[in-house]
Amino acid sequence: MKVLITREIPEAGIRLLQEHPEITLDYRQGPPLSKEELLEAIKDVDALIAVIPDKIDKDIIEAGKNLKLIAAYSVGYDHIDIATAKAKDVFVSNTPGDLTESVAEHTIALMMAVTKQIVNADKYVRAGSYKYWDPMIFLGPKLRGKTFGVVGFGRIGRHTADIARNGFDMRIVYSDRYQQPASGAEFAPLEKLLELSDIVSINCNLSESTHHLIDEAQLKQMKPTAYLINTARGPIINEKALIRAMQEKWIAGAGLDVFEEEPEVPEELRKLENVVLTPHIASATREARIQMARMAAENVIEVLVYNEKPVNQVA
Ligand code: DGY
Repeated sequence: MKVLITREIPEAGIRLLQEHPEITLDYRQGPPLSKEELLEAIKDVDALIAVIPDKIDKDIIEAGKNLKLIAAYSVGYDHIDIATAKAKDVFVSNTPGDLTESVAEHTIALMMAVTKQIVNADKYVRAGSYKYWDPMIFLGPKLRGKTFGVVGFGRIGRHTADIARNGFDMRIVYSDRYQQPASGAEFAPLEKLLELSDIVSINCNLSESTHHLIDEAQLKQMKPTAYLINTARGPIINEKALIRAMQEKWIAGAGLDVFEEEPEVPEELRKLENVVLTPHIASATREARIQMARMAAENVIEVLVYNEKPVNQVA
C-alpha cells in the first residue's frame, strides 16, 4: 500500500510507517507540489499525508482512485474538501491536542511582541539608532489586569486564556458558538467582547460561519488602544479591512501568524509598523511537530494496516 507524504516531516512519523513492510512511501521533501504534480502523484496512492499548502480539492480526491485516507498534518483541515471526501468514502484525520500549548505560546509571543514593540526596538538597535536612553520611546501598554478576549474557546483558546490569566492576571472574556461553562472566564457575545477587550485573540476554526467574522464593523467595535492577534486562519479576518483599521488607527495594532491568501502577504500590511508578522509557525515547536508526525502516521497505520477508522477522524 502506498502512502504519499507531500513535504518533509519529522523522522519519528516516517519511522513508524517504515515498521510496516506492507507500506511503501512516496516521500517528497522539496517545495510544495503543484496541483498538476499532486494529480499525478495521487493516482495509485492509498493514503495521503497532506500539509497546509496542499489544496486537497475535488479533483485531487477524485484522481486518487485507491485513496482511503487523507491525514492532515495539522489540526485545521479547511484545505481539504470534506464533502467530496465523505462522498467518496475517504477518511479524513487531523493532529489535534499536541500542538495546543505551542500555538497558545505563540499567541502570547505575538501579543508580547506587538505590545512591547520588540521588532521595532530590535531594528532600532541594529540600525545604530540607540544613542542615549530616551524615556519616551517605544511606549506600550502594561498587560497586567487588562482584558483578554478569546474568540473561539476550544483547546487552544482555553490554554491561551490560562497563560494570560495566570501570567498577567488578565480578565478573560470569551465568545464561542457554544456558551460553555468556564471557570475564570466570562462569556460575552462577540460585539461585547470586542468592546471590552484590550487584546482580542482569534482561536476559532475557519468555516463558512467564521469567514470574515472580523470585518470592518467588528474592527470598529474594538478600542483604539486594542490589539488583534490571529494564530487561527487568515480568512477569519477581512485582511483589507484590518489593513485600513491599522492605517487609520481604529485599533492599535496586530500580531498575525496567518493570512488570507497564504503565502501572499499584501505589501500594505508588510509596510505597517504596528503589526508583527510570522509565517504560520504557531505550532512550530520541535515537540509539537514530532508528535504531529507520529499522529499522522498512526492514523495511516490504523486505516491501512488494521483496517480501522483513523484515531483522529474528522470525516
Ligand atoms: C494547524 O495545525 O492547523 C496549524 O495551523 C499548523 O501550524
